[in-house]
Parts: sequence; structure tokens; C-alpha cells
Amino acid sequence: MARFSLLSLFLLLIAGAVAAYAGSSTFDDENPIRSVVSDGLREFETSVLKIVGHTCRAHVLSFARFAHRYEKKYENAEEIKLRFSIFSENLKLIRSHNKKGLPYTLAVNQFADWTWEEFRRHRLGAAQNCSATIKGNHKLTDVVLPKMKDWRLEGIVSPVKNQGHCGSCWTFSTTGALEAAYKQAFGKGISLSEQQLVDCAQAFNNFGCNGGLPSQAFEYIKYNGGLETEEAYPYTGKDGECKFSSENVGVQVLDTVNITLGAEDELKHAVAIVRPVSVAFEVVTGFRFYQKGVYTNNTCGTTPMDVNHAVLAVGYGVENGVPYWLIKNSWGEDWGDNGYFKMEMGKNMCGIATCASYPVVA
Ligand SMILES: *[C@@H]1O[C@H](CO)[C@@H](O)[C@H](O)[C@H]1NC(C)=O
Ligand SMILES: *[C@@H]1O[C@H](CO)[C@@H](O)[C@H](O)[C@H]1NC(C)=O
Ligand SMILES: *[C@@H]1O[C@H](CO)[C@@H](O)[C@H](O)[C@H]1NC(C)=O
Repeated sequence: MARFSLLSLFLLLIAGAVAAYAGSSTFDDENPIRSVVSDGLREFETSVLKIVGHTCRAHVLSFARFAHRYEKKYENAEEIKLRFSIFSENLKLIRSHNKKGLPYTLAVNQFADWTWEEFRRHRLGAAQNCSATIKGNHKLTDVVLPKMKDWRLEGIVSPVKNQGHCGSCWTFSTTGALEAAYKQAFGKGISLSEQQLVDCAQAFNNFGCNGGLPSQAFEYIKYNGGLETEEAYPYTGKDGECKFSSENVGVQVLDTVNITLGAEDELKHAVAIVRPVSVAFEVVTGFRFYQKGVYTNNTCGTTPMDVNHAVLAVGYGVENGVPYWLIKNSWGEDWGDNGYFKMEMGKNMCGIATCASYPVVA
């Protein structure tokens, strides 16, 4: 059955045949009904109310706005029912969280019609054992660190990317670190290939869409002879055959510097005076709806076996008296605080300093 958009579904529904169309779709893009619709959202609400009933009118209106905004595509009325019920649960979680007056808020975003299990499957890598960082090689110095740091203000942080349906966060953490290092070293922007890492870095304990570690990706690049540009080896978001070609290499890695497991003082020193650092942490359920503020949670783990998501620390600061890490994510600019989030600093929160490293480039 062809997928069709909510707008199309709505058009089918207002054509007056809810039940008849519920399980089938032969919707034709040339359908003349399309042209009579100007205010699609309002009528879509009406059709969803028909499908799910009127008991939760307010939730239906939120759901319709959500589906419209994120251009969700659902197969049929059954799927709309299912997605609406998941959305309602998530909406309750978000609202009850926001009443607690914690230092961070949650909001409906593109993940609001997914269960936690679906989210985990599509967005997180399998937990990796990153105990190689027990012996870090970052050198502390006596320099006085600034009170706050934001590498974006120095123009070396590349735009936020979107990993899509693939547990390839580690490749985006890697390219983010390398893109910043490259700009810092050579004064020129560059966009680097995540797909090469997905397809080619298995020999260094990485598993494509199933997870990996930035430190191991840096090592792969170092021994492989470089990482291609995004343009030469574009992202598909799927595991594929390795097609590396040394002609299109954009950057070489000379070395990997690892932060000692859990040593936030080392991490802070590195982020303050060296450059952005690849970090990993454990994403737990509510995190996917992060909106803004300093994230904190006392149930997430801090061991090398807990961390399940790699990202890029690009700074730190203090907000309302709470010290935080400023972190670039890879779930698009639409997610969180323009694609970024803040994580409480000083408690190895969710393992943020458990598995951190940065590259030296050439
Ligand atoms: C993780 O790695 C460490 C060091 O290599 C090893 O001792 C430990 O057994 C590993 N743990 C698991 C669960 O694989
Ligand atoms: C840093 O970590 C990587 C991957 O865990 C490891 O291969 C590499 O040897 C480490 N580097 C140093 C200098 O310890
Ligand atoms: C911490 O995370 C757990 C798992 O997501 C969640 O159940 C709990 O409500 C969170 N705690 C707070 C204070 O948000």
C-alpha cells in the first residue's frame, strides 16, 4: 500500500468515506479535491476526531498540530489511532514534567508519536564498552580557565546535522569534532563524511548503524589514511559497502587524545583551551523531549556500559547557578535548543565524561 500524507488522508476522509478508506489507499495526486482545501489543519482535526473519538478533544488538537508541523505520514486510520495514543501518553509525560519546576523543560517535538522503544531502536546505538579511556592522555596545565566557553562564538562549530533512522550518532560526534578541529587549524570550513565511518570503520570496533565510538573512529581515520568530505561520500543513513577513495580525503587524523574516565576536570580543561570534545552519555526516556535548560537526572548511569549516545561538547557555562556542558546533538536543528542541549556539569551526569576524546588533525 502506498504511503500517503495526513493531508491526503484528510482529503479522503472529507470525501465522506471514513470507513471505506480506512484500510486502503489508492490516492491519486491529481485528485481534484486537493484544490478545494485551503485550511487543511482545521479539517484534519475534524477527521482525527472522527477516528479517535471526542473524549480527548484538546489532545486531538495538539496531535493534529503536531502531525501537520512535522509532516507525519500515516498509513491508515488504525495507525492514526495508535500514533495518537502514543502521542497522548508522551504529552502527559511532558506536561507533568514541566509542572515540577526543574531546571529544564520538555516539549513536543518530532519524536512525540514514537514509543521509547521505537526511539531507542531508531536513534540510539547499542551501549559500547569504552573502558580504553581509563588511561587518558590529555595533559592538564595550571592555566586559569574562563568562567564560560562557547566555541560557536569563535566560528569553528559546523552546523547541526541529522542522523535520521540510524544509530550513527558516533559518526556525527566524530565529524563534528573534526570539522571544528579543521576550521581551527586551517581557518576554512569543511563538512566531512559520516557514511564512510558507517560503512568502513568496523575493524576498529564500530558497528555502523548499530553504534560505535568517536575515539575508535579517530583511530580508524588515523590508520585508514583519512576521512572523505561529505560531498564525496554523502550520507544515506543505512549500512552499506565501504567505498573509500583516498582521492577525496578532506582530513587526516594525527592522533586521538582520550579523557580519563569520569574526569570532568580534564574534560573542562580540554573544552576550555583546546577545542570541542566528543562525549557520550546515557539517554533515558524523557531526554528525547528536551526543550531547554540544564538537563539533569539521577537515574541515568555513568559506567562505560551505560552510555548509548555520542555527541559533541562545544562549551560550558552556568545557568541560574547550575554549571552545565553545552552540547551539540545530531537530531536536526529542530530538536531541543536549536539542535543543542545543556547537561549539568560536576557529577559526571549520565556519564558525560565517561567516554570523551578529541582528535589532532592534519
Ligand atoms: C569492558 O572492557 C574492559 C577493558 O577492556 C574489560 O575488562 C571488561 O570486561 C569489558 N566489559 C564488558 C562487559 O565487555
Ligand atoms: C584512545 O582511545 C582509543 C579507542 O578507545 C584507543 O584505541 C587509543 O589507543 C587511545 N589513545 C591513547 C593515546 O591512549
Ligand atoms: C529521570 O529519568 C527517568 C527515566 O527516563 C524518568 O522516569 C524520571 O522521571 C526522570 N527524573 C526526572 C526528575 O525527570
